[in-house]
Amino acid sequence: MAIGRGVLAETGTRMRAGGLRGRAFVVSNERIFPLYGDPLVASLRAADFSVATYQLPDGEPTKSLASAQLLYDWLADLRAERIDTIVALGGGVVGDVAGFAAATFLRGMPLVQVPTTVLSQIDSAIGGKVGVNHRKGKNLIGAFYPARLIVSDVETLRSLTPRVLADGWAEAVKYAMILDAPLLDLLDDNVATLCDPGSATFSSDRLVEVVERCAQHKVRIVAEDEREANLRMILNYGHTIGQGIEAALSYEGLLHGEAVSIGMSGAAAISVATGFLDAALARRQDEVLRHFGLPVRLPADIPRPTTFAVLERVAQDKKARGARIQWVLLDRIGHAQIESGVPAALVQETIDRLLGG
Ligand SMILES: NC(=O)c1ccc[n+]([C@@H]2O[C@H](COP(=O)([O-])OP(=O)(O)OC[C@H]3O[C@@H](n4cnc5c(N)ncnc54)[C@H](O)[C@@H]3O)[C@@H](O)[C@H]2O)c1
Ligand SMILES: [Zn+2]
Repeated sequence: MAIGRGVLAETGTRMRAGGLRGRAFVVSNERIFPLYGDPLVASLRAADFSVATYQLPDGEPTKSLASAQLLYDWLADLRAERIDTIVALGGGVVGDVAGFAAATFLRGMPLVQVPTTVLSQIDSAIGGKVGVNHRKGKNLIGAFYPARLIVSDVETLRSLTPRVLADGWAEAVKYAMILDAPLLDLLDDNVATLCDPGSATFSSDRLVEVVERCAQHKVRIVAEDEREANLRMILNYGHTIGQGIEAALSYEGLLHGEAVSIGMSGAAAISVATGFLDAALARRQDEVLRHFGLPVRLPADIPRPTTFAVLERVAQDKKARGARIQWVLLDRIGHAQIESGVPAALVQETIDRLLGG
């Protein structure tokens, strides 16, 4: 994994150093490729890769089997071989669908991720989950297929909209809350530059440090999870309620990190109500989230789903397995634990409040 300023231009040499040969099939989208396609392709050609490129349309609907099919057609037309590499240039959407194509075409081609959003640099490109959505649900179709190389150039984050940028920082706050208390202060102390991609000081050493630290947390949790089953579950902090709200809203109105931000506020409140967490620490979390411009309640301009609709989504997959909901709660900042005995009334009350009821 390479994280830093300008590392995009080193992609070709790093792929060579990692033993990759064959051709490079760059998959991106129509928004990102015009920004970073040329320097990436130049880097690959400079390292003697022959290069083909494909631009998917922008947006979450692109994460579909239909897009995978388009990629298969393209790869088949160009007679891609198993030694050739798929290079995914983009955010989580591009990474997930290109990664899925890499996992499945010819039963697997090497995959290189060049993530260009905060969320993909600190979360989705790491850990090997690739996949596409199905009309019945998000990420229903997929595989575990780790990238051979991840190249995270923080300079690419400069062209993100402030909203998408802040959205990714929600996952950074998550790592701080479950694993790394000093990171919460680091984030809060630097919130102004981390949220201002236009400023001259944006891609500072601090930015690199924060991205690196978060990425390392994900790498470590994923690696340890192989030995200690379910450790990865703590990465779901804020996601139980957050994903319930996202699904109840049919994935409209809120970005993922925004929903997770509201969900973290809920999980911290539940941690306080069950006696695990000091109320002042929950307030501290919500204060940092607000500093990032992230919501800790459903914003008033978003159509309000019913508490029941959210609860139903929260409990859905658990019900199918006949299991109780496993909550990721905090006992202090930087330390999470799994708890399955949270009273239903408390959950309902908490969601009610998050929805503004
Ligand atoms: N695989 C995993 O483990 C995992 C984990 C978390 C989330 N995800 C998935 O990731 C996806 C969300 O990823 P995301 O938040 O990166 O969203 P995204 O890929 O949709 O990117 C957000 C927007 O920013 C644009 N963009 C990306 N990089 C840019 C840049 N450098 N400059 C300007 N614009 C840029 C994109 O075109 C898009 O419009 C979801 O589909 C989610 O399910 C996967
Ligand atoms: Zn998430």
